[in-house]
Amino acid sequence: MTILTGVKPTGKPHLGNYLGAMLPALQAGDSRQTMLFIADYHALTTVTDATELRRLTHEVAATWLAIGLDPEAVTFYRQSDVPETFELFWLLCCVTPKGLMNRAHAYKAMVDENLELGRDPDAGVNMGLYDYPVLMAADILLFDVNVVPVGKDQSQHVEMARDIAERFNNLFGPVLIVPEAQRTAEPESILGIDGRKMSKSYDNTIPLFAPSDELRKLLRRYKTDSTPADAPKDPDANGLFRIYADFASRDDAAAVRAGLIAGKTTWGALKQLAFETIEAQVAPMRERYDALMADPEEIERILRIGAERARARARVTLRRVRAAVGAAAH
Ligand code: TRP
Repeated sequence: MTILTGVKPTGKPHLGNYLGAMLPALQAGDSRQTMLFIADYHALTTVTDATELRRLTHEVAATWLAIGLDPEAVTFYRQSDVPETFELFWLLCCVTPKGLMNRAHAYKAMVDENLELGRDPDAGVNMGLYDYPVLMAADILLFDVNVVPVGKDQSQHVEMARDIAERFNNLFGPVLIVPEAQRTAEPESILGIDGRKMSKSYDNTIPLFAPSDELRKLLRRYKTDSTPADAPKDPDANGLFRIYADFASRDDAAAVRAGLIAGKTTWGALKQLAFETIEAQVAPMRERYDALMADPEEIERILRIGAERARARARVTLRRVRAAVGAAAH
């Protein structure tokens, strides 16, 4: 059984991304059948600067490797290293009803916004955005993937990949494996320093690999109430205890919870403790991350190994697909 996950390179992850999505993905499933790739060509629908795309790609690659992805076990590659994807993309475009793409959430949202503002419905929409779901279908169908773990925001795309595969099979015979979407648990909401959900759009995040000093500073900035030092405190009044507990052992977390409730632990003490606990776990990962970012050739080397494995599989599928449509046999 093959499981495939794609991640768009969108900048440095924060503690919320790490705890809510990346760590669970790393811990899920049998890594020998797992493929994880960086969807750099999907990012091209918005990124228009070569240096920027390369930096974003290296950041996300270094992050996954630093947090413990084992590139020997997981097939870890970059989308643009697998040109077979783009050949399949075209073949899929030819069986994809345009109307299906009209219903894609991301495209529809832009059209709706344009209409609201009295603009041309397709203002600012490039064909890459429009075809985004077909490229995603190609990512998936290229590897006879059985399961695609996805959050709520991507599940429509996997449904579309299923529709496209079924349509292709109806026209050309049973050539493509129809994948199943597997809804991942909604990431627990990690709260940011202002008490709202940790999110780049709220500017309340703590970067996963923030330097030690910055990590301490950001944890100190967590908004806490001015309950007197020895008064009972609600551990869930802000995000601080939760983020500490996510890194602490169960016993330590229970002791600190009790201390807050009993009024024995101050918010200040919790901030210091959170810093020490998070720092102890993040520091070795940050070191690996920094070492990789200082050695882009090493990142490239690792991605190339993954790409070779991915391409070997891709060629098998593509041979089948080419034969089915009557294209040149390679
Ligand atoms: N569109 C996904 C996202 O933005 C990334 C992605 C691209 C993907 N291709 C994929 C995810 C294939 C799963 C399978 O998060």
